[in-house]
Amino acid sequence: MLKTPRDLLIRHATLPDGRCGIDLLARDGYFAAIGPALPAPEGAEVLDADGWLFSPPFVDAHFHLDSTLSHGLPRTNDSGTLLEGIRLWGELKPLLTEEAVAERALAYCDWAVARGLLAIRTHVDVCDERLLAVRALLEVKRRVASYLTLQLVAFPQDGLLRSAGAEAQLKRALDLGVDVIGGIPHHERSAAEGAESVRRLAELAAERGLMLDLHCDETDDPASRHVETLALHTQRLGLQGRATGSHLTSMHSMDNAYAAKLVALIADSGLNAIANPLINITLQGRYDSYPKRRGMTRVPELMDAGVTVAFGHDCVMDPWYALGSADMLEVASMGLHVAQMTSQAAQQRCFEAVTTNPARILGLQGYGLEVGCRADGVLLQARSPQEALRLRAQRLLVLRGGQVLSRMVPAAAQLCLPGRPQVVDFTRQTPATPQTPPR
Ligand code: FE2
Repeated sequence: MLKTPRDLLIRHATLPDGRCGIDLLARDGYFAAIGPALPAPEGAEVLDADGWLFSPPFVDAHFHLDSTLSHGLPRTNDSGTLLEGIRLWGELKPLLTEEAVAERALAYCDWAVARGLLAIRTHVDVCDERLLAVRALLEVKRRVASYLTLQLVAFPQDGLLRSAGAEAQLKRALDLGVDVIGGIPHHERSAAEGAESVRRLAELAAERGLMLDLHCDETDDPASRHVETLALHTQRLGLQGRATGSHLTSMHSMDNAYAAKLVALIADSGLNAIANPLINITLQGRYDSYPKRRGMTRVPELMDAGVTVAFGHDCVMDPWYALGSADMLEVASMGLHVAQMTSQAAQQRCFEAVTTNPARILGLQGYGLEVGCRADGVLLQARSPQEALRLRAQRLLVLRGGQVLSRMVPAAAQLCLPGRPQVVDFTRQTPATPQTPPR
């Protein structure tokens, strides 16, 4: 357990909404005051943010903690496809031990904390009658609870209907304490069985009062339309705000007229969306020659329609993705590039897609930079969200409940050029857009 810290006053911070020179006072684990020039309570620890960006912590709305850091076990994914990744994971599953899964997951949690990532929704495979990964991750969730929020999703990786026993195992996992209901309709044996799996899972979510988050249409096939079914049942069963479609990559390849109707349907139904840009820019388009499709879902269009959209990391060093280091700024940067969200306003939305939006999708209580919120946050070596994205800024300080969890030294390079500054400063703010003078 973390000990209760004394008062902590952070001075001279810049906030993601652009306010500068802001002080934040953490008391008893919560923000007690936020504003300019706050008086320092007697005995408080004072940290000078020196104008750097203080953000609420990063949140990853889509991850697989049971497979993380297993890259190379028992072999690597040579084709780079989703399907070989699923086969490879199937080869690894019988070799797993509860201890090894927990040890790798805990190592990843350390990386996450150091990166200012303090809440993760992780899918956990239930297509194993031992429910070994479920037990391992429930134990990890308990062990990290004081400093990192884990939300577990019961995920039938091999198909709810396609894999014998999956439905019963999914319900057992929920009974053991797994929080959210998952699924993978595009991996069922047929489109009809995919639709049936969506119906059953949505009805189970309504019956148990749980959230629902389905891997949905993670394919280049524009005919994969399970998200339509998911939106329908979300509306029918009153799951607005509690149901999420993850990946949705087939939307990238759909006919524009159909996609326009679908985006409006998703917005009307209150369904959330999660794109996983690092993974889908590498997994999708593998059956294409040239031009190769990018494969990420229609992020700006969904955002414009009012859908809550998050970017997830999905995988780090596992059968599907050999790279990654728990860096949600890398995730958002890739999303920004793939979706061509380059304007200042669009970059701000990309930052929100790894902070406030996933916090809303997970239903995190007390998240944010408001008085009364838990005193969590990350001090970034950047002056704005846009600069944080450009530099994938150092996490100078990570806070949970007003207590420092991690520190990182500022990035600095020593130049050895005659007549030039000795220290290179990569920060450089975009000048404000000149305003047209009134006539
Ligand atoms: Fe996933």
